[in-house]
Amino acid sequence: MAQRTEAAGSVALKDGRRVTIRPLTEEDRGALAAFGQSLPKNDLLYLEDDFSNPDIIARLAFAARAENWRQYVAVTDDGAIVAWAAALRMPGWSHHVADIRLIVGPSCRRSGLGMYLAQAIVEAARELGAAKVTVDMLAAQTAGQAIFSRLGFAVEGQLARHAIDRDGNLHDIVIMSAFMKP
Ligand SMILES: CC(C)(COP(=O)(O)OP(=O)(O)OC[C@H]1O[C@@H](n2cnc3c(N)ncnc32)[C@H](O)[C@@H]1OP(=O)(O)O)[C@@H](O)C(=O)NCCC(=O)NCCS
Repeated sequence: MAQRTEAAGSVALKDGRRVTIRPLTEEDRGALAAFGQSLPKNDLLYLEDDFSNPDIIARLAFAARAENWRQYVAVTDDGAIVAWAAALRMPGWSHHVADIRLIVGPSCRRSGLGMYLAQAIVEAARELGAAKVTVDMLAAQTAGQAIFSRLGFAVEGQLARHAIDRDGNLHDIVIMSAFMKP
């Protein structure tokens, strides 16, 4: 079960830097595009959303106020976005389920930010009304699996050759989930 936590606001990273975790706004479009450009080629290859594509950035910024989405960013004092996460409530008979995505930029990795932002976005999914949260990632993305299993998520399944990267290679994906405590 995912535990209730307070993770938004100003947080101290393990190396002493501070960042602010807050909801994305439409005005963040330029900073989000810069964040996308800062991601290593390997990340861009394997991310579900293509952060190097200006149309995708525009869609995410436009969705800042969408009813079924919550997007959070981690921002430095000078306004740079260094991490992004989203919770998207599913349509139809899975409308009680929210799907989560999480990316931390290379300059802030291994500093605890992924863990903070994962907690914040799980809490945002709860506020969206989700009773269950899911996250899927490539089987090779073990850091993400470590974060979500620490938050109480369990592996629910693995889908063979279910993702295709931007070089056309197929990858297995792992689906993890947690049920919310009321
Ligand atoms: C996964 C990701 C969000 C982790 O962000 P992060 O800020 O580096 O994570 P944290 O510093 O909070 O690390 C939390 C824990 O995850 C694990 N972890 C993180 N990076 C790891 C790595 N490179 N190798 C092994 N374990 C790792 C560790 O257990 C770590 O705890 P520890 O530092 O106490 O050992 C980041 O690597 C990323 O954006 N990757 C690409 C996208 C992705 O895989 N998203 C996840 C699924 S949507």
